[in-house]
Parts: sequence; structure tokens; C-alpha cells
Amino acid sequence: MKTYRIAVISGDGIGPEVIAEGVKILDRAAELSGKFRFDFTYFPWGCEYYVKHGKMMDEDGLAQLAGFDAIYLGAVGYPGVPDHVSLWDLLLTIRKGFDQYVNLRPIQLLRGAPCPLADVSRESIDMLVIRENSEGEYAGAGDWLFPGQENEVVLQTGVFSRKGTERIIRYAYEVARASGKTLTSISKGNALNYSMVFWDQIFAQVGKEYPDVETASYLVDAASMFFVKEPERFQIVVTSNLFGDILTDLGAAIAGGMGLAAGANINPERKYPSMFEPIHGSAPDIAGKGIANPLAAVWSASQMLDFFGHEDWGRQVLSAIEEVMVQKTVLTPDMGGTSTTSEVGDAVRSALGNLIRS
Ligand code: NAI
Ligand code: MG
Repeated sequence: MKTYRIAVISGDGIGPEVIAEGVKILDRAAELSGKFRFDFTYFPWGCEYYVKHGKMMDEDGLAQLAGFDAIYLGAVGYPGVPDHVSLWDLLLTIRKGFDQYVNLRPIQLLRGAPCPLADVSRESIDMLVIRENSEGEYAGAGDWLFPGQENEVVLQTGVFSRKGTERIIRYAYEVARASGKTLTSISKGNALNYSMVFWDQIFAQVGKEYPDVETASYLVDAASMFFVKEPERFQIVVTSNLFGDILTDLGAAIAGGMGLAAGANINPERKYPSMFEPIHGSAPDIAGKGIANPLAAVWSASQMLDFFGHEDWGRQVLSAIEEVMVQKTVLTPDMGGTSTTSEVGDAVRSALGNLIRS
């Protein structure tokens, strides 16, 4: 039997609460399949660790993680530790160190999911946003000159390499070709006269190799408007790190809310482990109350199953989430229910069993 070794970084706030439910579902899928199993190793890294040890993760943290088949992450960040420390010293260290240059964020309105848009059919919100995850606006390049003085200047430089831009765009074309869907590039060439003009050029160049893929190109401001007004325009979407970050929160809002949005950080070459996480943060406002919605963490577990080649199980887990949302009897408060995090996890778990038995 195949054993997948998973490094679990539950992190801060609601991270551990929602990850526990995702683990429950992964174990149940494995048990039902009879073909694979999971072996989870927990790492105590995050803001609490930082407060005790002065660092977000061990110095050799990446070496400790390198041998795992995947990383399952809750959320990091907590009041008392500056957000740029928690983000850079853990999340971005892993994403960059393991060359997880593809960020996959499904924006799909599942059955039973709440949608704030009027007059949209469920089928019209069904896209996959492929966000560049290794450079761009989040490259961390820049300078801070003359701090606190009158002539103070800060520079935050976007870094768009040919290699980095080509590989994400090529990845997106491959996904579009394999799925027979359209591919939309989102950029901002009119205002960002170097980086985004370059991005558009590469999108057109690589596209010559994919004459079978139907494409579109939007400016990010117009795209934001169409996400809300005509989401059916988008199927596969490729965009830069910053634009992808913002657009996928907007996407999360139209497809069920932050409690339901998942993301995968992929190293396509599989040289390093990939990382799966709900896209929400540690939600300090509700942490410790047992009311966080675990469905985003469960969806990211479904992405992990897909990544391991068990797309059938990935789909079953999504169907189990849908069953629970359609029933509407066991939901957390953010979805209008009164249930706890673990009650929702248990409901998904039994829905999964019922789907397989029926
Ligand atoms: P957040 O996503 O933690 O919370 C935003 C709002 O959504 C809050 O009202 C929260 O209660 C709600 N919410 C989020 N997830 C929920 C869930 N599963 N169920 C029910 N409600 C949920 O974002 P915020 O407040 O901006 O950040 C809090 C901390 O999390 C910060 O330290 C931030 O840096 C960190 N963060 C970490 C991320 C990560 O580790 N990937 C991503 C985003 C933020
Ligand atoms: Mg974000």
C-alpha cells in the first residue's frame, strides 16, 4: 500500500482547528480507498514558536521538510508578531525555497455554497486561477533610504524574469489545453510599462505554441469588474503574484466566502514537496472558539488528493462538501449555521462514506 508522508504545519489561530478536520477527511478517504494511507508528522512552527524561540521555524526547516511528499499548512500570523515577519520567515520561505512557483486557486461555486451575486447561475462561476508564486511584485526586492527623514524614499521592485514568466504562462497553457478550456491572462500593461508589457509579450509568444487554446487578455481593473458582473468569461486564468493574491480573495468572496477557499502551492517538477493550504489567515477574532469553517482546509486536502493522482477521491471530497452545504443542517456561523468546526468535519466525513456506499 502506498504511504504518503505529510508534513503538517498547523500554525496559528484557527490553523490547528481547521487542519485537524482536513486530516480527518484525508484519513477517511485513505481508509475508504484501501489503496493508500497517510503518515502525518507535525511541526510546531509559527508565531507561538517565534515568541518562544525568536524564529518562525528551525534554521534547517527546509531540510527537515524536503523529504515529505507534501506539506499541509493551516495559517500563520498572530497579533504581537509583525505580519511581514510571519509571512516572510515561514510561508514565503517555503514557497520560494521549494520553488513552488505555481499557485492554484479554484474559484468554483459548489452546490449549496452561498453566493452574494444576484442573478448568476452556479455554472457561471467555475474557474481556476493560476497565480505566479515565486517572483513578481512579491520578490522582496527594493530599498529603504533615509528612514524617518524628510527625503525618505522606499522602493519596492517587481521582478519578472523571462524564465519565471515563461514557466507560469506555459503551465497555464498546458492546463488549458488538457482541459479544453479558455485561457485568460490578467495584467496591466498600460500603467506598468516594463513588467506588464513584458508579461503580455510572453503570453503572446508562448501562445504561438498553443494555437488550439482560445485566449483572452484583460487589464486587472477591468477583470475585477468582470469577476463580479460576468464571471462566466473566465475559465483558466493566469496572472502575476500580486494580482493573483487580490483577485483570488475577490474570487473567494463570490464563490462561498473565505471559509471555503483553498489554494495549492505547486512545484510542478516534483523536485520539492508542494504545499496545500486554505487561503484564509489565522482569524484571531474567532480563534479558540471552535467555530472556524473547516471547509477551505478540507478543499485543500482535496487538492492534495488530486496532486497525488487520486483525482477520483479529490472529486468525492468536493461532493461530500457539497452534500453538507446542500443539507444546510451542519454549518459554521460564517455560513449561517450554529455548528462547531469539528461537527462540520464529522459531517463531511460521514457524507464521504455515504457517497462511496451509495
Ligand atoms: P483572515 O483570513 O484571518 O480573516 C479575515 C476574516 O475572515 C475574519 O473576520 C475571520 O474571522 C474570517 N475568517 C477567515 N477564515 C475563516 C474561517 N475558516 N471560518 C470562518 N471565518 C473565517 O485574515 P486577516 O484577519 O487579514 O489576517 C489575520 C492573520 O492571518 C494576520 O496575521 C495575517 O497576516 C495572517 N494571514 C495568514 C495567511 C496564511 O498563513 N496563508 C493568509 C492571510 C492572512
Ligand atoms: Mg492573500
